[in-house]
Amino acid sequence: MTARDPFVLAAFQYLGPNGTVGAGWYEEEDRSADFLTLGHWTSLARRLDEAGFDFLFLADSHGWPAVDGQPHPAAVREGRGVPQADPVTVISALAAVTERLGFVVTSSTTVERPAALARRLATLDHFCSGRLGWNIVTGSNGASAAALMGEDLISHDLRYDMAEDYLELCLGLWEGTWRTDAYRRDPSTRTWADPDGVRALTHEGPYFRSHGILNLPPSPQRTPLLVQAGSSGRGLAYAGRNAEAVFVAGGDPLVVARRVAAIRRAAADAGRDPRSVKVLAGVMLLAAETSAEAHARHTRMLERSTLQGAAAVFAGNTGVDLLQFPLDRPLPPDLTTDQGLSNLQRYLGTPEQPGPTVAQILEDFRTTGLNGTVIAGDPEEVVDGAVAFADATDVDGFLLQPDLVPGTFEAVADLVVPVLRERGLAREAPTGATLREHLFGEGHRWLAGDHHGSGRRWVAPAEV
Ligand SMILES: Cc1cc2nc3c(=O)[nH]c(=O)nc-3n(C[C@H](O)[C@H](O)[C@H](O)COP(=O)(O)O)c2cc1C
Repeated sequence: MTARDPFVLAAFQYLGPNGTVGAGWYEEEDRSADFLTLGHWTSLARRLDEAGFDFLFLADSHGWPAVDGQPHPAAVREGRGVPQADPVTVISALAAVTERLGFVVTSSTTVERPAALARRLATLDHFCSGRLGWNIVTGSNGASAAALMGEDLISHDLRYDMAEDYLELCLGLWEGTWRTDAYRRDPSTRTWADPDGVRALTHEGPYFRSHGILNLPPSPQRTPLLVQAGSSGRGLAYAGRNAEAVFVAGGDPLVVARRVAAIRRAAADAGRDPRSVKVLAGVMLLAAETSAEAHARHTRMLERSTLQGAAAVFAGNTGVDLLQFPLDRPLPPDLTTDQGLSNLQRYLGTPEQPGPTVAQILEDFRTTGLNGTVIAGDPEEVVDGAVAFADATDVDGFLLQPDLVPGTFEAVADLVVPVLRERGLAREAPTGATLREHLFGEGHRWLAGDHHGSGRRWVAPAEV
């Protein structure tokens, strides 16, 4: 084993009945159906905070798995993607009951105007004392989200072009409208802020415009930690230029390794240190006291996963309803989508080398879901598996997927984290106060100097 930094550890959740492959909300020990009660979230956040997780990730989509504009029946019946509540609303409450846990919240660049989101996230970063991150998505379940908003689905690459402009505008407000020494709150001179240190942004982008200020003092991180998860070619380029943390789906380590290398290359192409992007793989660590118990849990999880539910989740992500294709044949190799491309491309062959049949795709997706890898075993086995996966792929850490909530995370906290600590692979104590410092070390409160957003910063003369 090579010497490595401690892993970044995060927990995956959305505001709905969770579960990764198959739903488990109806099991007695699963509490995820309580997602509309605040107590469910505060107790989970406290638990993750005490265990030393770096952050809680809250996924989101305005859309839902749809067939011909109507909710996919299996999604509604099984509670997969329907329902899903707005995650931003819960974060202030979680910040109030935690000391150091970060919160990465998903918000799409296709729904809301950028200045409105920039203001909300800056407010929230204050309330979180600088522990906020933004997962920038161009929107999965895109067709139903667009239909909900009364709009047409924007084509895949255009969505990323718009997302560039969207982020530029946000960065302009966060970094450029308040000089770093402008906020005073000085009773002796009755000066709230230096009027010479606050100025309006002029943003005339190809898709978005703004002439205004961030109407609150910059938050502890100025720009919340920037996170991204798209894996298409265009998604990788966006990540390389903009993201400080990237989520990749788990799965075949060779495929993940290629993706991680491509992200680091894209960062280097954008003039950044390739290690200034923390890459986290979405995997499930399924730990129990004994190996047999962990594998029995894994078997039960797979038994709960239905083909219909898998088809619903796949349709939600890619816009492709597998059940409408002949089961005994591969998908047409030229099939494409304006929704999530990566999960479709995962199963496409070429005219020379056909891909798996639709029946095989359904079975694979039923057992692996959107995020691929399950490492099951006793605590030592799980840590060995996680280290082997990280060695093979060059990921910096893990976005832990749930089977049962909060059981999967409790098992990691109680059984896995102590072994990681023994081996120097999990932090004993947080580095710094803000989420960016947790990931990059003390003193890294703001965007790094080689990130283009730092060039937007209005720096006080004394600090230049
Ligand atoms: C671990 C992980 C988490 C994701 N979370 C979200 C999410 O919360 N909301 C969303 O719309 N897409 C989410 N995605 C999907 C991507 O952001 C992206 O929309 C999708 O991969 C399609 O982009 P692409 O065509 O560039 O691959 C996630 C992907 C991964 C791997």
